[in-house]
Amino acid sequence: MTVKPHSDLLRAAVAASRNSYAPYSGFRVAAAVRAGSGKVYTGVNVENASLGLTVCAERVAIFKAVSEGEREIREVLVYAVDSYDPVPPCGACLQVIAEFARDDVEIVMVSGTGRIERARLSQLLPKRFKGEKLRRG
Ligand code: THU
Repeated sequence: MTVKPHSDLLRAAVAASRNSYAPYSGFRVAAAVRAGSGKVYTGVNVENASLGLTVCAERVAIFKAVSEGEREIREVLVYAVDSYDPVPPCGACLQVIAEFARDDVEIVMVSGTGRIERARLSQLLPKRFKGEKLRRG
């Protein structure tokens, strides 16, 4: 561990990062989210020999929360162990965050070197495709 955990989310992500399954990219990522109940859920990236089947840490964390009955994501933290700079969630993960979080939800990005960046979902994904857009006409 190279970063000093200064929040419960970061502590949870650092602990979870040892379970990252990234034999192909060697790029370990862990995520921690605080859900509506207040409970923290973690996830790691899970790669596959069929590379396109890889699932990012953020989606694993959110799907774990939702499958436990949560319907709201209040905070998101991404810990990129092998990165010098913090990394934002990919477009697919931002779309999944948009499904369950407020537009101004804070996304905290931490790199293995301890660098920290913060952004709002609305900054990272300005035009969000939401369920209400499915209404026709
Ligand atoms: N990855 C994540 O898990 N989250 C991110 O925010 C960026 C990318 C993973 C997917 C893949 O296993 C590896 O990082 C390289 O793209």
